[in-house]
Amino acid sequence: MDTPKVCLTLTGRSFIENIETYRRYKNYVDIVELRADYLNEEDQFRLREFPSMIGIPCILTIRRKRDGGQFVGNEFTRTQLFSRALAFADNEKSHNFNYVDFEDDFNVASLNDIALAFSVRIIRSLHSFDGPVFNLRDTFSKMQHTPNEIFKIAFMPNNLSDVSRLFEEAKLLHGVQYIVLAMGPLGVVSRILAAKLGSCLTYTSPASMDKAMRDLGHMDPVTLVDMYHFRRINKTTRIFAVTGWPLKSTNSPLLHNSLYQKHNMDCVFIPLPAASIDEAMEFAKVARLRGLAITVPHKEKVISLLDEVDANVGEIGSCNTAVLQNKGPLDYIDRNYTPHWLGHNTDAVGFLNALIEFMGTDKLSKKKVAIIGAGGAARAIAYVIKTLGCKTCIFNRTVERAQSLASLYGFKAAPLCPDSYGLLERYSDIIVQTTNVGMNYTPVDGKNPQQKQYDPIWFYEFMGTEHLFDIIYTPDVTPVMARAKAKGCSVCNGIQMLKEQGYAQFKYFTGVDYDDFDAE
Ligand code: ATR
Repeated sequence: MDTPKVCLTLTGRSFIENIETYRRYKNYVDIVELRADYLNEEDQFRLREFPSMIGIPCILTIRRKRDGGQFVGNEFTRTQLFSRALAFADNEKSHNFNYVDFEDDFNVASLNDIALAFSVRIIRSLHSFDGPVFNLRDTFSKMQHTPNEIFKIAFMPNNLSDVSRLFEEAKLLHGVQYIVLAMGPLGVVSRILAAKLGSCLTYTSPASMDKAMRDLGHMDPVTLVDMYHFRRINKTTRIFAVTGWPLKSTNSPLLHNSLYQKHNMDCVFIPLPAASIDEAMEFAKVARLRGLAITVPHKEKVISLLDEVDANVGEIGSCNTAVLQNKGPLDYIDRNYTPHWLGHNTDAVGFLNALIEFMGTDKLSKKKVAIIGAGGAARAIAYVIKTLGCKTCIFNRTVERAQSLASLYGFKAAPLCPDSYGLLERYSDIIVQTTNVGMNYTPVDGKNPQQKQYDPIWFYEFMGTEHLFDIIYTPDVTPVMARAKAKGCSVCNGIQMLKEQGYAQFKYFTGVDYDDFDAE
């Protein structure tokens, strides 16, 4: 099968606007879709001229409101626009529309005939915004009105399981050309992995796309082609993913995909938002994923779904990396396929490497350490601090959680409040901030206010001798970091930890050191 084509959907108000948009992405796209429902009236009446103006294969679509488009006229007007655009075709094929999108319930014999007469391929489409469409093969045959149509089914999934079923069913489609995709954030995987689904194209929009397109799950062609290496994805490409919920923003695809590119690996790393980890594991099985990075809130729950875990996971009680142990090519069709998953924790090694870099040494046993917070992230950190042999106290809003974590390692525990000032001062050689207080905080006018809700140790006056390691990386300077820095403390954020844990994941996923290439 050919690699799926990259289609740029053009939703400009005028031909000129659309042509300018196309020029920006010229080197990234194979075909454009003219969404005539977005055009001004003047250009709608001269649709015929567009293909020769743009000079690239072109799909004509006039989408009605109920199918997610902008067209509000009646079907008579729409039929007229189609006939104007398709009739009196030019002898030079490149001056005509190559494809036209007719919905499954839009069966106008005269238009079908025009399309057939002038060799315009019909894309017969079905859009469902209120749930999935299944039984694809039967649905295709019910949709068909003329020979040789390309079938398109786009639906809004209710959950990731609907997307998994799409991948399962697509394995059984042969002998027809089609485009199948799930819309919305859960469906982004179906756009990136069009080659795995056997779809003949994937739709993209310019980076400046409106909210409606973004909500449908469109991405821009540069991200698709450069970051996800879309043109290289084929049936044998190894797939990895990061799963979490809501997984609004994650740096992992960028990190892993650029490492695959650097090492010339036939791999792709995708975001896989999943409300439950069970659904993520189901997708991993159906789409034959080779590895999963697991993030909030699934790091603990995932353990019960794995076949085995390493000693770190057993000790820490949290897993952020699952690696498929089945080796060799994976049979996509085999219904008896059973994945075997091994879990690791790379948060611990990520923190350890970042801490050593921050402190400039791994000889830290003489240091007294304060861990702020006792949640999931603090568990991996406490484990590392124990291996370094430091005297430690855990401070947490809910003191019972601090006590229970501290008891695992023989640490002290205390409530996170002004009463603990003296104790915090005594354990302040290294302060590791692990709570989410200060996360996603945006400074106003470039200033970091010291409001209590953004600073978990607001009551503590820095002396200037402390090392503060805040595991947050957005923003890159949290209010507590700003306060410590102003007093002359040495501070660091979580970006290096994030990278280090990603490098360790890369090694588990591919068996290669991330910097092997540099060393050559
Ligand atoms: P993660 O896996 O990211 O560590 P978590 O397990 O939910 O997430 O833990 C969040 C940590 O941030 C906890 O230590 C939590 O304190 P509680 O155990 O008392 O809930 C801490 N935290 C969250 N919001 C906080 C706040 N407003 N003030 C102080 N600590 C807070």
